[in-house]
Amino acid sequence: MVPDLERLAPEHADALLAFERENREWFARSIPDRGDDYFTEFAARHAALLAEQATGRCHFHVLTESGAVLGRFNLVDVADGAAELGYRVAQRSAGRGVATDAVRRVATLAREAYGLRRLTAATTLDNPASQAVLRRTGFTPAGEVSLGGRPGLRYVLPLVAED
Ligand SMILES: CC(C)(COP(=O)(O)OP(=O)(O)OC[C@H]1O[C@@H](n2cnc3c(N)ncnc32)[C@H](O)[C@@H]1OP(=O)(O)O)[C@@H](O)C(=O)NCCC(=O)NCCS
Repeated sequence: MVPDLERLAPEHADALLAFERENREWFARSIPDRGDDYFTEFAARHAALLAEQATGRCHFHVLTESGAVLGRFNLVDVADGAAELGYRVAQRSAGRGVATDAVRRVATLAREAYGLRRLTAATTLDNPASQAVLRRTGFTPAGEVSLGGRPGLRYVLPLVAED
């Protein structure tokens, strides 16, 4: 079954919180932990994300299967035809091409639905799975960066020929 890629909506709150709780330790191995407040203040935060999305500054997506969230694929800092991509996939769904497929789908949405011309992303050098996802979906390295004190690379993906 191909998971659905859905724009973040109010009704995703419970499944999204379960996804973040169940995978908290898994995510913290690769990216900074969200902190306890994230979980206790989840409802307010969800509402704030939806309000921000309504401004057009970001486009949040959840990958769902039978109502459960398998992953998040977010475009933030939308400006001047570009946006920054971030993602995370549930531990139980990892290593099966889920992120690669969803990043391709988000890039298509970015170009066709959101009218973007370029995506950027960044990941640490000690995250080979994320590096693999970006390279396989057409992102190319665009310089070194420090992420939370860890060395990383910035990546860029042109969505239209002239960029
Ligand atoms: C990074 C992440 C999104 C990848 O999701 P995924 O669905 O497992 O990704 P895919 O299966 O599409 O691709 C992962 C690729 O990395 C490869 N990979 C995984 N671990 C690896 C490692 N230690 N060394 C080298 N390659 C590795 C996989 O083999 C796979 O490539 P393949 O299909 O050619 O075998 C997921 O691991 C995750 O959510 N991690 C925690 C949060 C995170 O790091 N987010 C990204 C922040 S920039």
